[in-house]
Amino acid sequence: MNILSKEALKGEHIIITGATGGIGYETAKEVVRAGGNITITGRNERKLTALRGECARINGEAQIYIRLADLNEAADRKKVSAEARQALGDVTGLVNSAGIIGGGPLEETKEEDLREVMELNYFSTVLFTQEVYQNMKNQGRGSIVNLSSLSGLRGTHSGTAYSASKFAITGFTQSFAHEAIEHGIRVNAVCPGYVDTSMGQEAIRAKGERRGRSYEEERVFAEKGIPSGKLSEAAEVARSIVYLLSDASTNIVGESLKISGGSVMR
Ligand SMILES: NC(=O)c1ccc[n+]([C@@H]2O[C@H](COP(=O)([O-])OP(=O)(O)OC[C@H]3O[C@@H](n4cnc5c(N)ncnc54)[C@H](OP(=O)(O)O)[C@@H]3O)[C@@H](O)[C@H]2O)c1
Repeated sequence: MNILSKEALKGEHIIITGATGGIGYETAKEVVRAGGNITITGRNERKLTALRGECARINGEAQIYIRLADLNEAADRKKVSAEARQALGDVTGLVNSAGIIGGGPLEETKEEDLREVMELNYFSTVLFTQEVYQNMKNQGRGSIVNLSSLSGLRGTHSGTAYSASKFAITGFTQSFAHEAIEHGIRVNAVCPGYVDTSMGQEAIRAKGERRGRSYEEERVFAEKGIPSGKLSEAAEVARSIVYLLSDASTNIVGESLKISGGSVMR
């Protein structure tokens, strides 16, 4: 069921990073379903092209610009932002979904693991936001949604790298929200628990290995610990992101929206 009409994001231009990944991919589809135009970016050309096709089938009127980019590269960050504007006009929304999981128990975490996870999940996310912000600021309106995590709200076993990077995103969201709202731009985060994407499955597999359980056993164990009894689907996260992008959520600012079937309640 979709409570958002085709008018919800009509005329908006939303950039979605990590669009080749589970959550970004579904977000792109939900944004065009809600009437928005999209710039989608990732490093996998085949997936970006397939996504453009799916989005065009959902909404034949949507304008879709695709741009391959490694967001850890400053030149790519600049190009995505500038070319998106040239292609589809002023940017009014940004979804920062590109991210990686990594690291492990502290004693096994190498310096390069720490730096790799922080590089994309924190530094590149902030630096890409900087690239897009000026254009939004000139218009005096916009909405930015960052992908944090439940791991960005409370510590997790073996989360030295990943959990810390998501705490950084929660902190960035709250701090930047103070500045951006002065210019009519709302900044919020979504904080999913396990989502049934390749990343979520990798996290369950890694946890299972540490506990001597198979992927299937660990998944059943994880689901038993979630009050709703199930992992989130990427489309469920995507619909919450669309809500935060839309005018349905005006005056929601600096929020960290948990999407976790009730596994953390506070
Ligand atoms: N899945 C979960 O359980 C879960 C839970 C909480 C929060 N999250 C967060 O939600 C976000 C999306 O997760 P997901 O499940 O959709 O993960 P995913 O399926 O693994 O997708 C990750 C995305 O990040 C992109 N990416 C990785 N390195 C990049 C780089 N250097 N430059 C540009 N793009 C890069 C990937 O692009 P390519 O594949 O094209 O390289 C892909 O589109 C992440 O920030 C994650 O931390 C996920």
